[in-house]
Amino acid sequence: MSDKKATLKVDGLDETIELPVYSGTLGPDVIDVGALTSRDMFTYDPGFVSTAACESKITYIDGGKGILLHRGYPIDQLAEHSDYLETCYLLLYGELPTAEQKETFVSTVKRHTMVHEQIRTFFNGFRRDAHPMAVMCGVVGALSAFYHDSLDISDEHHRQVAAFRLIAKMPTLAAMSYKFSIGQPFMYPDNNMGYAENFLHMMFGNPCEPSNVSPVLARAMDRIFLLHADHEQNASTSTVRLAGSSGANPFACIAAGIAALWGPSHGGANEAVLEMLEEIGDVSRIDEFVSRAKDKDDPFRLMGFGHRVYKNFDPRAKVMKEAADDVLAELGIENDPLLAIAKRLEQIALEDPYFIERKLYPNVDFYSGIILKAIGIPTSMFTVIFAVGRTVGWIAHWHEMISGSYRIGRPRQLYTGHTQRDFVALEKRG
Ligand code: CMC
Repeated sequence: MSDKKATLKVDGLDETIELPVYSGTLGPDVIDVGALTSRDMFTYDPGFVSTAACESKITYIDGGKGILLHRGYPIDQLAEHSDYLETCYLLLYGELPTAEQKETFVSTVKRHTMVHEQIRTFFNGFRRDAHPMAVMCGVVGALSAFYHDSLDISDEHHRQVAAFRLIAKMPTLAAMSYKFSIGQPFMYPDNNMGYAENFLHMMFGNPCEPSNVSPVLARAMDRIFLLHADHEQNASTSTVRLAGSSGANPFACIAAGIAALWGPSHGGANEAVLEMLEEIGDVSRIDEFVSRAKDKDDPFRLMGFGHRVYKNFDPRAKVMKEAADDVLAELGIENDPLLAIAKRLEQIALEDPYFIERKLYPNVDFYSGIILKAIGIPTSMFTVIFAVGRTVGWIAHWHEMISGSYRIGRPRQLYTGHTQRDFVALEKRG
């Protein structure tokens, strides 16, 4: 915080308004507009493009330079040297763990991977063809009906237990939502396995045979979780904070985050990328789709391109692209037709003035969809996997808010509806 001030002059108001300006450790200064309400004025910022909704110490993004830091550490360094659970520890507690702290953390997560046995029957209430994200919204929200001993948000121990439960159980529930959709038995977690390996075991294993998860694919899966772990105040994280600001329990808040993530402009984009590649179908049709993406009168957008914050290469996309190359080489996939379309689209977007002028680079979801498809993950599970990885980010932000001082989130509006008018009786209308 600093002594800087911004002075606001408003037409029709004699006095000038002085607003405090705060500086963070990195990033733009923020103007505290709290004093405006007493002058009967609000700020107007649809889409929160220039609004800092909170103070946070967790993640920093410089969209212009393509920088993403978790607790100060660059994402590419974490992706290369760390793993998902270590990054979870970092996001939750602010520092990288010592070897002993890491071991304790990992074993605590492992002790929470099973879900209450009655949750298996809860699944039977869903249609088999339900979208797994619909199932996840319901089942994760329902955890609050199963784990009453971690709902007291004023109790630090309850908050910690809820955090462990959510991180540990999300892969189990995600895999269950898939197994349910294909009519196969649910797999119990195997706590001898690593986090990502265990997820692949629960997704693709069956009770009749021993699991055999490829270490290369498990590493790629771990990287996908890690690269999605947190991303500052995005739509789903802001949703979790807003839901949490009313005092709602953590399971309900994370379910709200899952719902917000589902949309195609956010986490649903990875699924939309694959659907788009399938719709294009052949390299010869790419120009037609690129023209549609540029046409103002056509709502079509190139999925997996552009980002609200990044006006440069998404640093996660760089790592994801490398991981995609590793996985495709490991699996010997070189002549996949969808991959050929993806590569050509990437090239066009990096050369075409429309995309260059608007700074529309391929984003993380463009490449994650390609890897997930290669691993054999069905398209409908892509956003679920994003949700598994992002759970720690949601919890870290929720916890940061609840353990500090906060007020219920309550935005205001610019009202443009009718002014007051008198009720008209039914027979006098029309
Ligand atoms: N294809 C074609 N044109 C686009 C695209 C696209 N994917 N994205 C943005 N534009 C154009 C847009 O039409 C506008 O052009 P103009 O200035 O001529 O009107 C300009 O670029 C700015 O777009 P915007 O809608 O103001 O940008 P935004 O910050 O509101 O939206 C976005 C960001 C991610 C929603 C958008 O780029 C988009 O819809 N991308 C496709 C969906 C996608 O891949 N989403 C995943 C984001 S990364 C994962 C995550 O963090 O959730």
